[in-house]
Amino acid sequence: MAERLRDLLSIEELTAEEIGFLLDEAKPFQEFQRYPLKKLATLRGKTVALAFFEASTRTRISFATAASRLGADTMNLQAEASSLKKGESLLDTARTLDAMKPDCIVMRHSSSGAADFVARHLEIPVINAGDGTHEHPTQALLDALTIRDRRGKIESLNVTIVGDILHSRVARSNLHLLGKFGCRFTLCGPPMWLPREFECLGKQVRRSSRIDDALEGADVVIVLRVQQERLHEPALPLDEYILLYQLTPGRLKLARPDALVLHPGPMIRGLEIDPAVADGPQSCVLEQVTNGLAVRMALLFVMIATGAEIDDARGPAHAAH
Ligand code: NCD
Repeated sequence: MAERLRDLLSIEELTAEEIGFLLDEAKPFQEFQRYPLKKLATLRGKTVALAFFEASTRTRISFATAASRLGADTMNLQAEASSLKKGESLLDTARTLDAMKPDCIVMRHSSSGAADFVARHLEIPVINAGDGTHEHPTQALLDALTIRDRRGKIESLNVTIVGDILHSRVARSNLHLLGKFGCRFTLCGPPMWLPREFECLGKQVRRSSRIDDALEGADVVIVLRVQQERLHEPALPLDEYILLYQLTPGRLKLARPDALVLHPGPMIRGLEIDPAVADGPQSCVLEQVTNGLAVRMALLFVMIATGAEIDDARGPAHAAH
């Protein structure tokens, strides 16, 4: 990549070449997760600030573990216990963290555009770990890595995304990423969760509120969580959702026999996905979690290691090459 990645705010702003570069950088870190001793000194002395203004389990732990396995320290903002509760603005909180001199900020916030806003005011790199309903770039990168491993490519696949697409930053980032590699999309869910604007995100995006129709010929099925916490009232009763949209073994048979099933988590078994599918041979759910570590290690490495550290690290971290 000619220019160094300054921030990672969205997939939309990346080129296919930059995405390919990040996925390639993640490869040796995938191998690294199998080492008995999971500690590198690559980012020793560096500090990663984790500013999660919105609840998160896997993404926060994944970034914290990625930083620690690279030898970096972390600074943790706990939104519940922080001055935000006392009325401090987002920018003042971000500037306060910045004044403690971290080398980058990983940020999750319930407002779309929050990471971009902070990045425009701070000198250090900002990584968007999910902003409102806008984007979740590292989730799309780890999904792409998982698909590329299992299928050998991410180009020109038929991708079906099922569920609460309206509220999903994961759907948006995946549409941007896989769309740059010529994938065709079918978006499936209740009509009120299938915004027409999503068709503008790519040339090859169609919507369908019938799951049988949407699954036919799919190479990849991405199942989304029903985000009940974002709804004032359910758009349709949950038992009806289960009946119409749950990914069951019978329905999965309509997709290609080797179709992959992805879910970003947290997964609500028995609601959007049948446990037999979640635990079945086509499910990539746990691989996605492990690949999340590799992608986030690669990203922190690319964004905050200096030239000399990169040269040093090409030793152990890239031994698999
Ligand atoms: C997703 C998120 O928070 O955007 N989860 C995740 O980061 N793995 C999806 C979700 O919350 O449903």
